[in-house]
Amino acid sequence: MHDQILTRIHSTTLGVLGGLVLLLGFLATPSIAEKKGERVYSFNAQGELIQPQGYREWIYVGTPVTPNELNNGKAAFPEFHNVYIHPDHFKKWKKTGAFPDGTILMKELVSVGSKQAVSGSGYFMGEFIGLEATIKDSRRFKSEPGQWAYFSFTREGKKPAKTGKAFPADKCNFCHQAFAKDDWVFTQYYPVLRAAKPGRK
Ligand code: HEC
Repeated sequence: MHDQILTRIHSTTLGVLGGLVLLLGFLATPSIAEKKGERVYSFNAQGELIQPQGYREWIYVGTPVTPNELNNGKAAFPEFHNVYIHPDHFKKWKKTGAFPDGTILMKELVSVGSKQAVSGSGYFMGEFIGLEATIKDSRRFKSEPGQWAYFSFTREGKKPAKTGKAFPADKCNFCHQAFAKDDWVFTQYYPVLRAAKPGRK
């Protein structure tokens, strides 16, 4: 009787442990895209990037803002820029401190809304007003500097477009190449990426 109960306890424990091992294995498994070296984004037949979905649930890295008031009333980008990186690529960045082939970052533009809150004067996010993306892809963008290409879905006063064409290098890429801290990406303004970079003191 006693033995039977012990056996039962044992098999239950083993069952639970087995379940845990399976669960851990599952959690450690790379996502399908990462495993096959596939791309997490897609292009249509005209070579336009199809607007990625669900990016607000990717890894959020920072929000630069260059308000008009600090730029003589005419900032080039007066809105907030919420920047996200795909979780697969964030994982690699954390491990290697580099952006892997196939990296995608999204930048969502948000208007400056109220400049007053109960906490004081400042800049507070208003509405979503635009969407941009950048992709590093050595197959598709072989001839782009750094293999990075830049896209916009923004349509003034309307919802972002479903697809976006790559810009020529002298419209976007050149500025990133010249001034971004890490491989064409402005990590100097993204504390989340800096904090995750390996080897950082
Ligand atoms: C005058 C320089 C300049 C030009 C030109 C430029 N950018 Fe940027 N871009 C920046 C800066 C600075 C940041 C980071 C701060 C910010 O977003 O305000 C940035 C950030 C980004 C990001 C977020 C990821 C990253 O690489 O840091 C995307 C996406 C982006 N830009 C897309 C574009 C697109 C699309 C164009 C062309 C239509 C463009 N950029 C042209 C300066 C530039």
